Amino acid sequence: THNMKRLFIINIGILAGIDSRSKRCLKGKEMGTLETLPNAYLIIENGRFKDYGKMDDCPSPADKAEVIDAKGGAVLPSWCDSHTHIVYAGSREQEFIDKIRGLSYAEIARRGGGILNSADRLHEMDEEELYQQAMSRVDEIIRKGTGCVEIKSGYGLNTEDELKMLRVIRRIKKTTRLKVVATFLGAHAVSHAYKGRQEEYVDLIIHEMIPAVGKEKLADFIDVFCDTGFFTPEETARILKAGAEYGMRPKIHADELASSGGVEVGVKHNALSVDHLESMTEAEIQLLKNSRTMPTALPGTSFFLNMPFALGRKMIDAGLPLALASDYNPGSTPSGDMKFIVSLGCIKMRLLPEEAINAATLNGAYAMGLSKEYGSVMRGKTANFFITDPIPSIEFIPYAYTTPVIDRVFLQGEEYV
Ligand code: NIG
Ligand code: FE
Repeated sequence: THNMKRLFIINIGILAGIDSRSKRCLKGKEMGTLETLPNAYLIIENGRFKDYGKMDDCPSPADKAEVIDAKGGAVLPSWCDSHTHIVYAGSREQEFIDKIRGLSYAEIARRGGGILNSADRLHEMDEEELYQQAMSRVDEIIRKGTGCVEIKSGYGLNTEDELKMLRVIRRIKKTTRLKVVATFLGAHAVSHAYKGRQEEYVDLIIHEMIPAVGKEKLADFIDVFCDTGFFTPEETARILKAGAEYGMRPKIHADELASSGGVEVGVKHNALSVDHLESMTEAEIQLLKNSRTMPTALPGTSFFLNMPFALGRKMIDAGLPLALASDYNPGSTPSGDMKFIVSLGCIKMRLLPEEAINAATLNGAYAMGLSKEYGSVMRGKTANFFITDPIPSIEFIPYAYTTPVIDRVFLQGEEYV
């Protein structure tokens, strides 16, 4: 055991997100409980949670152990952000201004803005620069407490550029301690080159892109923007089937712009998650019951685009699980601040702080297929967590919605500085 690396976190004001239930995800009423322990210590061994308890009972660290004094701050498991598009080129503040002037997201897309605008920029940018730009966002979200993230392709829209994006994601996976999963989203929009030939574009995805991605094992999941003006449920079904042949489980964009069949096709294809849901209705809530699909709300998008919020309160009251994610992307949410997402969940969707935090940690981990390893403070799980400044309660975190309470972050038991 001479190679064993031990880290003691002492004087923790509140240790939160403790997992004695060992659940893969939390549903309905379960979401209202966030287990905490006041005045605690936490021991990390070889990058994993080893033990925790009351500070009074803290064993004295051996000589070689590293000791970190939390100085009364809270410790929480890192945010698990299960839906982002952080590999992109440049930014789109011009469209932000167009929106302020009154254009809708759909109108901007129709004029060649939106996703196609980002695709043009990405096409022009070389892989190294794309990686550097993405890494500055990775650095940003790590500092804001994210420890696991899903990243999508979908600004390539041709085989070569989709592969370029996915290679950048793979490089991020390899070069950071952040846990990263990759999703192939060739069906994000029909490219300029295929304008008016949507069916042919879908064929290209199925016959060329998916096999290429599958062969190089570049994606864990497959996504389709299944919505009015983008891809139909029938097209979505074809694409998901093709993805399944390469072991890519669906995580799809559904019901953002309209209640348009995305949840149904997602549940039918055993999607790990259906995301957005801004335009969902009671009917979609019924469809999600008795499924293994995690409904995922992206309240940052509702906030930024001035759109309705997903029916988070109703879903939880109906006994469903719920995850919260950022959707960090250049068009509809240029922010990956999960603390703010948790606040929006509380303020705009009427989630209780405990529910919102569970949605942004354990349930987010589930929506990436990672909840065995991440999303809570449990013996054996990977030690991704953060320490806050001293705060009066856990509820203070979403309440103080712009106070930067996160003080120190740790990934695999190593401090990120
Ligand atoms: O999740 N809705 C589809 N895709 C992204 C937006 C992408 C963009 O505008 O660049 C989203 O909101
Ligand atoms: Fe998205």
